[in-house]
Amino acid sequence: MAGGFGIESSKKGVEYPGKVTSYVLVTCIVAAMGGLIFGYDIGISGGVTSMAPFLIKFFPSVYHKEALDKSTNQYCKFDNFYLTMFTSSLYLAALVASFFASWVTRKLGRKVSMMLGGLIFFAGAAINAFALAIWMLIVGRILLGLGVGFSIQSVPLYVSEMAPYKHRGSLNIVFQLSITIGIFVANLVNYFTQNIKGGEGWRYSLGGAMVPAAFIFFSALCLPNTPNSMLERGDKEKARAMLRRIRGVSDKEIEAEFNDLLAASEASKLVKHPWRNLRKRHYRPHLVMAVLIPFFQQLTGINVVMFYAPVLFKTIGFGDNASLGSAVITGIVNMMSTFVSIYGTDKWGRRFLFLEGGIQMFIFQGLVAGFIGWKFGLTGQVTDLPKWYAIILVVFICVYVSAFAWSWGPLGWLVPSEIFPLEIRSAGQSIVASVNMFMTFLVAQLFLSMLCHLKFGLFIFFAFFVGIMTVYIHLFLPETKNIPIEEMSRVWREHWFWKHYVPEVTTDV
Ligand code: BGC
Repeated sequence: MAGGFGIESSKKGVEYPGKVTSYVLVTCIVAAMGGLIFGYDIGISGGVTSMAPFLIKFFPSVYHKEALDKSTNQYCKFDNFYLTMFTSSLYLAALVASFFASWVTRKLGRKVSMMLGGLIFFAGAAINAFALAIWMLIVGRILLGLGVGFSIQSVPLYVSEMAPYKHRGSLNIVFQLSITIGIFVANLVNYFTQNIKGGEGWRYSLGGAMVPAAFIFFSALCLPNTPNSMLERGDKEKARAMLRRIRGVSDKEIEAEFNDLLAASEASKLVKHPWRNLRKRHYRPHLVMAVLIPFFQQLTGINVVMFYAPVLFKTIGFGDNASLGSAVITGIVNMMSTFVSIYGTDKWGRRFLFLEGGIQMFIFQGLVAGFIGWKFGLTGQVTDLPKWYAIILVVFICVYVSAFAWSWGPLGWLVPSEIFPLEIRSAGQSIVASVNMFMTFLVAQLFLSMLCHLKFGLFIFFAFFVGIMTVYIHLFLPETKNIPIEEMSRVWREHWFWKHYVPEVTTDV
């Protein structure tokens, strides 16, 4: 036996000594900022595609159709394939990149993946800022997507491996926080650049992505590799020294944790085909979570608000400035609510936040549907919307966003990153990243035409999935707070359902 499985089965409730050293704190926070580029992109495209000069230059037919469209059916005003393709294409590129990133993350280390992410994203942002033709926009978008793919594949793993296990949740959620900061900053940037004279404001919006990209590249350059990653590449003594440094305790005190890391690493070296390995029966819970958690995260419908908040608010009768302004408001709510989970995830646990957030989203999505249905009906015709109506609707949307921001948002990244044993970790994380990207692509691509066809029922559609995912968590997700990653297999062995898949001791890795 030499597996993530075997070593863990003999011990229960192992405690590794370690402090939250300032070194580990700074390292994790800086690494988690890798989420900025992902967030910036989520927040920027919706605003840019609602700017007239941008549409006139690259999508003149869309612009003319919209300008000429005098129909009062609000639900269908913005339904356009090319426009949504602009937003969603990036996620396809990210999907592809996350598979390459798996190899780089495993063979060359988490750090190299993060640096590559920043570098490629920088190139994409530069090409977009100076775009003269549509092909430049597309090449830029593809590069941005590749950059995002590398970053979301490596950052959550990096942080989960560096952090002391008792604070792993909070530190990992800084990744989500940086996504929300990226979204919020992008909303603000759009709010200001739309008014730049000469109609070139969109260049600043798109080019602004170079700033977080450069930050991420240079900070990753200065970051150390994780002890796990050093072991994975055969640097045993360096790994020991790094572990001592990040835990801030003596050589003797890190012995237990180091030996477990070492055993997990030896086991992982025996695995020649992590992908094929993932199909084994005892990895079934990991595989199911790696697919379903990101799948459900996107079916909360959050990106309808993140990508299309300006369009959504225009649909419910806000003027141009007011809709970009409201997008800023949801951006603030999204960012601030993330602190609730930073505070609570290691205290109240992942399950509590998942369940509470799910119920809150379910209720408020229902209310949004009811409210839109009441005024817009099935025809989408509306003449007069009182101010109080719009305000209540924005409040409902904000309560829904806050629930996502302290539950499925952060936990959708945290939980998968902490459940994989080392031998399948990179491959597992790639599945998480690619399912997430695929679903993001799908929601982005389909939202405007779903709004046109399902009308207010769109929100009922998402509420339905939120109901299912909440029941799913209740039944199938064991609590993972305060459990060292290298010990995680015991949560499956003790679970009423998964124990049938995960045996007591495994010699087979
Ligand atoms: C999700 C994104 C979403 C963001 C909103 C992330 O966890 O993966 O799709 O846009 O949260 O804050």
